[in-house]
Amino acid sequence: MPLTPVLTQRFGLERSWSLETYEATDGYRALRQALTMAPDELVALVKDSGLRGRGGAGFPTGMKWSFIPQPKPGETPTGPAAAPKYLVVNADEGEPGTCKDLPLMTTDPHALVEGVVITAYAIRSHYAVIYVRGEAVHAHRRLMAAVQEAYAAGYLGRDVLGSGYDLDLVVHAGAGAYICGEETALLESLEGFRGQPRLKPPFPAVAGLYSSPTVINNVETLMTVPYVVRGGADWLKLFGPERSPGPKVYSLSGRVVRPGQYEAPMGTTMRELLEMAGGVRPGHQLKFWTPGGSSTPYFTAEHLDVPLDFDSVAAAGSMLGTTALMVFDDTDSIVEATLRFTEFYAHESCGKCTPCREGTFWLAQVLQRLLDGAGTAGDLDLLTDIADNILGRSFCPLGDGATSCIASSMKYFRDDYVALLPPDEQARLGRSLRIEPVGVAS
Ligand SMILES: Cc1cc2nc3c(=O)[nH]c(=O)nc-3n(C[C@H](O)[C@H](O)[C@H](O)COP(=O)(O)O)c2cc1C
Ligand code: SF4
Repeated sequence: MPLTPVLTQRFGLERSWSLETYEATDGYRALRQALTMAPDELVALVKDSGLRGRGGAGFPTGMKWSFIPQPKPGETPTGPAAAPKYLVVNADEGEPGTCKDLPLMTTDPHALVEGVVITAYAIRSHYAVIYVRGEAVHAHRRLMAAVQEAYAAGYLGRDVLGSGYDLDLVVHAGAGAYICGEETALLESLEGFRGQPRLKPPFPAVAGLYSSPTVINNVETLMTVPYVVRGGADWLKLFGPERSPGPKVYSLSGRVVRPGQYEAPMGTTMRELLEMAGGVRPGHQLKFWTPGGSSTPYFTAEHLDVPLDFDSVAAAGSMLGTTALMVFDDTDSIVEATLRFTEFYAHESCGKCTPCREGTFWLAQVLQRLLDGAGTAGDLDLLTDIADNILGRSFCPLGDGATSCIASSMKYFRDDYVALLPPDEQARLGRSLRIEPVGVAS
């Protein structure tokens, strides 16, 4: 499939991160155009473009911006409409398997800065923050340098490009907690509190950072905005399905010949992406894969032709999430992979609510017991029961996400669980399966 890079077009350019390279390749052209438009026009444009958030949930971006209460012409604003507006960039990228925002920011930080200035202008914000994962030292440095360059060149600060619009942009390093990618926990962390989710409502659009109206968007979402401004409302729809359009960065990892970032239109299938990545490593068969990171239900070889866009993946029983495609082959144990994911959730659970805090701990115990060969016939139902008590009963989506790997592995690979039981326990289930040795990663 011939591909036209959009978001990754500057990958490989000499000093791609510098202002000089950015300006030489159409950089900040969209901002000049945006500043000639009224903020509401920009919101309408992004709404019409069909852009949906790339942070996981696929929420329509223009609609999110339109929720920010704005003063009505001729009226003295009160309440949230009178409060300052904030834009927060979610650059925490903690979902296992996800590696798109980091290379995008490191290679092309000015594209993010340009997206931020346009978005802040559209929502009438004068203060924006990029909340970047603390361990991502390289990305953090590149962003800091890009912000400094943008201030010096008049793209940030007082009177941006002589438009009369003011914007300050701060790069804030988080401390590397997965939960701080959840938007309200991120706000708590930004305010200096422990990173734990807030009760919703009120939603951040009404009471976000410092209790003021706040838009929180993902890095890839905001990097797409300048292209929408330059291309117009129909441009995004050139890429992929009408209800879920645009260029997308897919992260392929695991048992593939050439793991890495592959930019392709929304709706590209795993079969096509695997072809680009050289396929599953020679001599082995695909066994299972995640379409959007560890929080999304596993897919199998049956799902190779599912278009990878928000709606098609949901219709097939999973979630597009962050398009983190982790590939496992016939040497991989589904139970072991599920244990690794579960240990991650048990570690990253913020502890605020009981179903997630206790449930993820117990899921890990039961999975370990099964892998140790000490499981009982009742453990299979126990796993499902614990997962059912987390799903829909947790305070935030981290808990729900932790159950995806349990439920989907049980659905597609129950026999692999049964095979781990001692023979007498298998007999209690009326089954007998031979335990196949699990291959060691090469
Ligand atoms: C546990 C958890 C972790 C998350 N981590 C991230 C993250 O690292 N980056 C991100 O953009 N969104 C993350 N999200 C989603 C955000 O809460 C939010 O939906 C997103 O930043 C909105 O941006 P978008 O509308 O541009 O997609 C996470 C959500 C949860 C529940
Ligand atoms: S679901 Fe987990 S991460 Fe979310 S609030 Fe509850 S304990 Fe914290």
